[in-house]
Formats: sequence, C-alpha cells, structure tokens
Amino acid sequence: MPESCDLAKMGPLLEKYRGQDGMLIPVLQDAQALYGYLPEEVLVCIGRELKIPLSRIYGVVTFYAQFYLTPRGRHTVRVCRGTACHVRGGKQILKAVQEFLGIEENETTPDFKFTFETVACLGACALSPVLLVDKKYYGKLTPTKVEQVLKQY
Ligand code: FES
Repeated sequence: MPESCDLAKMGPLLEKYRGQDGMLIPVLQDAQALYGYLPEEVLVCIGRELKIPLSRIYGVVTFYAQFYLTPRGRHTVRVCRGTACHVRGGKQILKAVQEFLGIEENETTPDFKFTFETVACLGACALSPVLLVDKKYYGKLTPTKVEQVLKQY
C-alpha cells in the first residue's frame, strides 16, 4: 500500500478490494465494521487509495441508511412509530425513552452507550407498543417497563 494512506488499519481492507468492480459498498461496509462508523478521514483514504471520487463515496454513504457518518452508541434503541404501536400508547413509550436517555431521536448519549432512532414499523405489531434494543424486541410496553428495559444495559 502506498505510504500516503496514514490509516494502518485500512491496509488489508484496501488491498482486498483494490481494482475490483462494484467494490465500493463492500469496502464501506468493511470499513464501518472496523471503526463502528465512517469517519471522514477513512472516506478520504478510500477515495484516494481506490481512486474513487469523494463525491461518489458521499453519494453512496448518504443514500443508504446502513452507513453512519457519526459515532454510534454501543446499543441502538429503536422505537416504533407505526399505527398499531401509536394507538396503544407509542407516544408515551417514545417520551419515556427520550426522558430516560436524555436525548432526542437520531442522537447518541454523551457516553456513547445508546443511539436512539425511530422506525415506521418494527414488524411486531401484535406486541405493540414495541421497541428494539440491538436485536432484542420488547413488547406490550408501558413507560415503567421502558425504564426497566433500558436499565438492563
Ligand atoms: S406498528 Fe409497531 S411494530 Fe408494527
């Protein structure tokens, strides 16, 4: 790898994909797995080393919801905003999460423990109101249960 890339960590990854067609998304996925998100200097490095215009890289990163440009919390809390959850008290669940974490939607707590997001439907409407922490579902929630759930983390 040329010396111009100061990110030693990125070397094997760049070598793996160098010269391959259609490698931009896999490169970005691997880089995100390495760093937890995609810092600007990593994107610059990818562009420089793999000869991809930075505008194209940012186009892809901002198009796909799977890519993150800012550091994420260790746990992702997703609250459902869907109709089934809404009619069964979803708004109070949302409020309870905001109050417990002390952040708004799409924010990360200062200690990087939680990132908080909302989703149109978590696909578990029978359990509404629902929230998801990482890959674990919690259903039939009340504001008190929300607190009990989040305290476990
Ligand atoms: S509406 Fe909330 S899980 Fe479907």
